Amino acid sequence: MKVLTLHGGARKRGNTATAANIVEVELKSLGHEVESIFLFEKDIKACLACGKCKQEPCSFSCIHKDDANGILQTMIAADLVIFTSPLYFWALAGPLKTFIDRTYSLYTNYHKPDHTSLVEGQRQALLITGSGPYEDNAEPVFTAFNKLQNPHKTIKAGEIYLARCTSPDKLEEEQKKHLQLFAQQLVA
Ligand SMILES: Cc1cc2nc3c(=O)[nH]c(=O)nc-3n(C[C@H](O)[C@H](O)[C@H](O)COP(=O)(O)O)c2cc1C
Repeated sequence: MKVLTLHGGARKRGNTATAANIVEVELKSLGHEVESIFLFEKDIKACLACGKCKQEPCSFSCIHKDDANGILQTMIAADLVIFTSPLYFWALAGPLKTFIDRTYSLYTNYHKPDHTSLVEGQRQALLITGSGPYEDNAEPVFTAFNKLQNPHKTIKAGEIYLARCTSPDKLEEEQKKHLQLFAQQLVA
């Protein structure tokens, strides 16, 4: 499978990137091709909600001329997309949220019989790390991710929350095993 990891966090050696790397290494060992993009390094402008992308069916013509368009093309070509982010104020980190808003251009006619999506049938997954527990902290971000599968017409391949993350070197063996199993589940 062609796998694309889209990182929302800025710390390339932080908890999230370290956890994601375990997943990526496992996927590569299973023979999958993995591309990894750190969104904070890219020029990704916020969706203007101008509706230009909705004027022609699946035209994918965003008014912004920035890095998001190329990343969206890479996303369209992927079989599996893994979104990763540290939990920031019960939500995704800004770069990933901004990019996901730009996926508004990937589908048309949501809630109508002729709803189409350029990523229809794609597998998508979410990996989040946080310093707090899942309960009363991380749920909203997973709720939003589950809902995202509807306009995208995609398939949820998996989701994982690593709670009580302090520093990457403190990632427990148990958590590492969970991440490897998570990777296997994404391509099963
Ligand atoms: C701006 C900011 C907001 C945060 N908000 C939350 C939060 O709402 N819930 C939580 O559990 N942890 C929160 N954290 C902690 C991070 O999610 C956690 O340390 C994470 O593992 C950091 O990942 P990183 O090392 O990849 O940057 C926050 C950290 C920052 C810097």
